[in-house]
Amino acid sequence: MNPWPAEAVWEAVAPLLPGFTVEVLPEVDSTNSELMRRARSGQAEPVLLVAERQTAGRGRLGRPWQSAAGASLTFSLGLPLAPVDWSGLSLAVGASLAENLHPAVRLKWPNDLWVEERKLGGILIETASFGEGAGARYAVIGVGINIAPRPAEGLSTPPAALQDLLPGAGPEAVLARLALPLVRDVQGFEQAGFRAFQARFAARDVLRDRAVVLSDGTAGTAHGVGEDGSLLVHTAAGLQAIASSEVSVRPAAP
Ligand code: BTN
Repeated sequence: MNPWPAEAVWEAVAPLLPGFTVEVLPEVDSTNSELMRRARSGQAEPVLLVAERQTAGRGRLGRPWQSAAGASLTFSLGLPLAPVDWSGLSLAVGASLAENLHPAVRLKWPNDLWVEERKLGGILIETASFGEGAGARYAVIGVGINIAPRPAEGLSTPPAALQDLLPGAGPEAVLARLALPLVRDVQGFEQAGFRAFQARFAARDVLRDRAVVLSDGTAGTAHGVGEDGSLLVHTAAGLQAIASSEVSVRPAAP
């Protein structure tokens, strides 16, 4: 394994985030769970927590997140955040990651990184309250990216891997290219909200103009995302703005 760029990431990010630290753990249940535990016990400093191995990685909607040491990048960025409106944060994070990974990486609403119809990575955002003041919450932005190809493990198609696009890329180098732009973009989101990311998301939107099916069975055609990050779907009942993070959506079979 290559050395983790903890020092370089810290040097680049600390001027933007006073009190920032970088931590690399050989193993943890889940970097998101660890930062949520810390936040609930009053630790609300900005931190980038990387795990070489997660024993209980979590995805959206209560799904497990599978990863393997050396073959995946798994990290969480934790920081106090006080945007006027939180909606669209996972889309803004997705745009930041995709732009800094490879031109072929696209975004599937609300939080997936995709390459050619296969999932490359995902984002899980959780928040915890901290302190007495209103407004700011502690945000935990978890990112999992498949770096090396791995077997399908029961899936009909194997997940995408970044090495298909960037041969030889390792998790350490990928972290080095993502961390600073991610912090900048999260701070940009805090200042300006999703509106500032709408065109960036649209440029990589996998679902745009495609037939989709929502997890409640509703079928329609996706028409991009609104200013608040909701997915606009033209259905038999008219144009619906899907905002719920509890909804999943998939392209309809051709
Ligand atoms: C999804 O696609 O549903 C989101 C996957 C998020 C996985 C990352 S890996 C690092 C962080 N820790 C976790 O337990 N989950 C996120």
